[in-house]
Amino acid sequence: MRAMKNYPYVITVSSEKGGVGKTTLATNLAIFLKAIDEDLPVSIFSFDNHFTIDKMFAIKGQKQTGTVAELLQDTRGCDLLHTGQYGVNYIPSSNSLPDLRGTFKGPMVLARILAESEIPGILIVDTRPDLDVMTQNALFAADRVLVPIKDMASMDNCKNIFELFDKRGLDRKSLSLIPCLIDERIKFDGMFKDQKTLLKAFAINRGYRCSDTFISKSPKVESLNTNPDGRIYPILTHGRGTDVYGQFTALAQTAVAEYKETSEPRALLFDNWQKEEDQRKKEAYFGRLTGLKSECLVCGKELGQESQIAYYCESSDGATCGYIEADCFTSFLLSAIFRIDRELPAEDPTRMMIHQTARQSVFVLNRGEEDSTDTIHFHRFDLQGNELLKKQYPLADQAGQDLLTGMVTGTLGGYEGQLRDAFLMVHPVSGDNPASILVEDNYREMVKLKKRIAAQVSAV
Ligand SMILES: Nc1ncnc2c1ncn2[C@@H]1O[C@H](COP(=O)(O)OP(=O)(O)OP(=O)(O)O)[C@@H](O)[C@H]1O
Ligand SMILES: [Mg+2]
Repeated sequence: MRAMKNYPYVITVSSEKGGVGKTTLATNLAIFLKAIDEDLPVSIFSFDNHFTIDKMFAIKGQKQTGTVAELLQDTRGCDLLHTGQYGVNYIPSSNSLPDLRGTFKGPMVLARILAESEIPGILIVDTRPDLDVMTQNALFAADRVLVPIKDMASMDNCKNIFELFDKRGLDRKSLSLIPCLIDERIKFDGMFKDQKTLLKAFAINRGYRCSDTFISKSPKVESLNTNPDGRIYPILTHGRGTDVYGQFTALAQTAVAEYKETSEPRALLFDNWQKEEDQRKKEAYFGRLTGLKSECLVCGKELGQESQIAYYCESSDGATCGYIEADCFTSFLLSAIFRIDRELPAEDPTRMMIHQTARQSVFVLNRGEEDSTDTIHFHRFDLQGNELLKKQYPLADQAGQDLLTGMVTGTLGGYEGQLRDAFLMVHPVSGDNPASILVEDNYREMVKLKKRIAAQVSAV
């Protein structure tokens, strides 16, 4: 039996507003989680370059191998975990994340990386105070998003996170607001007796889910990162007896309970989805392969190992798919299009030139309009789909009469010898691996090109 893989339960701490207590929340939550259950693996990393994580968790003299930058460049997450203070695993921070932003294609990159990370237990992700592509990835990968809010301005800001969730079809339930930096000395008259009650009421009124626990503003906590050692002390060890200590305990208990209730974290679901997706791609590829005609679409000879395949052909209605050999297609262009009736030897300059241009072109053949069914339209496009040439040829009565008629009726022939309302596209392929054009991403590119071309030729 295959060993079980590890999938992290991911808690992302995020808010567009700076200085609301994200990092304080992320780091101390990690430590309290560990204090509640020392057998629970807890890991943390940050997309910020403040190195707070490193200052808090690095053990003196510890050699650091790899950072968050390596994680994003596909080093396996569990291989980057450093055992840190208080039993928390951390991945060292990096200064070079802005350079990697371009490699983030879409919001699912981190989800994939974490699905393959083999990081066990709970993973906490601290983010920068904005909603850039990195933060979006951290949101997308999360089982639980904690959004600290300290005032109305930060609550207004979190509207963007909710909108992003709605846009991506993510479940709002995984978002949870936490009133932070609450000054308990401030009291109001009337219905909302203090800041946290007021914030909570506003949050609920806007349809946001708000955590029962809030974090007080505490001078003790504020002092924890100002000391002669230049270190940052945790609330667990240096804030005993404060309200904040109890609040973090409650928060960590809730997190552990939610973690235990989650039998399938997003990382596992994502991994399953990706496996299905890979399978689907594989099946689609084999489907395209098996639909290929076994003979050259110009000369009709069976294709084999020694065939010099150079073009892929597909009719716009998908009914005909197959290959053409290099020499066959050059001969076809020479005789059917350029009307040179002598057979030119391989080293003839005209022949070589036509061969070379053809390798940089896409060709399209289709019938004329409904009322002129006896003509064939021939188009040449560049590989981006810009039309370079358009010509018309008469359609011969019998397929055997000329190569052009033979090719068109062979590939676009329909009911009672009529041509179908479709076009044939001829696209160059690599001779070493012609089928690579049928592989997912390449095929998708070709279909895009086909659509561009379809808009320019008369057939649908
Ligand atoms: N509960 C608290 N009581 C008092 N001060 C706090 C509390 N939580 C955080 N702070 C202080 O508030 C400041 C900002 O906190 P923190 O760095 O955690 O915020 P942040 O949201 O991560 O900021 P940034 O957006 O810059 O990353 C820090 O000086 C921190 O010590
Ligand atoms: Mg921070």
